Amino acid sequence: MQHKRVGVIGGGPVGLVTATILASWGTRTALIEWDDRRLRALEAGKAPFFEPGLDELLKEELEKEFLVVGGDLSVLSASPVTFICVGTPPGPDGTPDLGDLERATADAAEVVPEQGVVAIKSTVPPGTTSRLNAKIAESRHDIFFVSCPEFLREGEALHDMRSPSRVVVGGTDPQANKRVADLFAPSEAPVIFTSPTGAELIKYGSNAFLATKISFVNELANLCDLVGADVTEVANGIGADPRIGRAFLNAGLGFGGSCFPKDVRGLEEAGTTRGYTSWLLKACTDINAQQRYRFAAKIRSALSGSVAGSRIAVLGLSFKPGTDDLRQAPALDIVRSLRRDGARVVATDPVAILAAASLIPEVELVPDPYECVRDADALVLATEWPEYLALDWARIRDLMRGNVILDGRNVLDRKLLSSLGFWCYGIGRPVVAPNLGDEQDRIPHVATQQSAESR
Ligand code: UGA
Repeated sequence: MQHKRVGVIGGGPVGLVTATILASWGTRTALIEWDDRRLRALEAGKAPFFEPGLDELLKEELEKEFLVVGGDLSVLSASPVTFICVGTPPGPDGTPDLGDLERATADAAEVVPEQGVVAIKSTVPPGTTSRLNAKIAESRHDIFFVSCPEFLREGEALHDMRSPSRVVVGGTDPQANKRVADLFAPSEAPVIFTSPTGAELIKYGSNAFLATKISFVNELANLCDLVGADVTEVANGIGADPRIGRAFLNAGLGFGGSCFPKDVRGLEEAGTTRGYTSWLLKACTDINAQQRYRFAAKIRSALSGSVAGSRIAVLGLSFKPGTDDLRQAPALDIVRSLRRDGARVVATDPVAILAAASLIPEVELVPDPYECVRDADALVLATEWPEYLALDWARIRDLMRGNVILDGRNVLDRKLLSSLGFWCYGIGRPVVAPNLGDEQDRIPHVATQQSAESR
């Protein structure tokens, strides 16, 4: 049997996941990585970032030799399709820096075979694929450019690559488009063929829509705080309308990570450079930026107006569970704000502590959540790791000095916590007081300003 061949440039979260799954489907896959340190890790079967299940799959595919990793681009001369999966990190103004992408496409165009396809998976502003195509066509017009955006969530990336909701292929040549689409046939996902710019906008539009949904529900949550409603009930009611849907209506600390913040700004900028002001996207970013500081203010007010001298335990640092990614993580801004206000902060995370050490050197980092909460006046849940939901809360109550819990993700069992004697604060939800039955009267609200200062 003749196996398909494919090249992938970039061993980051998108390229490595794409390459290993393609290899697992029986495609002979050559993964090119420029960075020596990353390359050595990949060769040793170790993903240079945390993604559940990826190390195991990488080792397996390297052993089977369906996946080869290296730094030499010449192997791409045997690949009818080469995916470009390099990073497009935000530049100083928040819009993507396309330097690596330009270099990777130029390098690929020098080596791919006649009639070869260069498929761009990196997230890029609308018009980029066509612009690069036009630029390369000056030296090579026997190759095709296609936009094939990715929709992989960090932490769920293997699943999302194996079973995507759709495969989007944006190109001008039907044969080239089909060749790219066929690589994803084992996923049995529907394929959407579009123009290159249409595909780029599907990617930006998807992320911007989801981000806007989050900012919308966070705005509702802030209004719920003012009028005394519970945003989780409101979101359930709104989300029950199938035209709206419940997904991405979880109020919390706002979105972080490398994708939503950059892509919302990127799409906004695509309008600005063409003379159009996108007020909606501006508001989406602004609401998101404020959300984490509103929560820091809520922590202050829960501790009688000041956190100075209080010991605050923070559970979770990564921007969401299932990843060690700290980019734009709300938890980081929250702990910095608490530190600025004079709090003593102890934080923990199942996987991101090492990475966090240099970013928040002023914060004590401990691996064990029970150690983290010892003697704390307040506990802040910043990332909803499943292991934190399953903690022994009676033990936590005994370890803590205070009895205030601030749930930044609205995921904790408030009834249970209240029955254990905690005060529970959430996002857009009424405060729940301790409910200890007869013992109720003996529970103080929170540490008073005086007692906080006396520590
Ligand atoms: C996102 C998209 O979901 C992927 O489809 C896309 O491929 C990826 O960006 C990308 O462009 O590469 P990701 O950034 O991994 O994936 O994270 P999500 O799971 O989408 O969550 C993003 C943020 O929204 C997180 O900070 C999360 O805590 C927050 N969120 C999510 C909420 O605050 N509320 C919600 O209801 C859902």
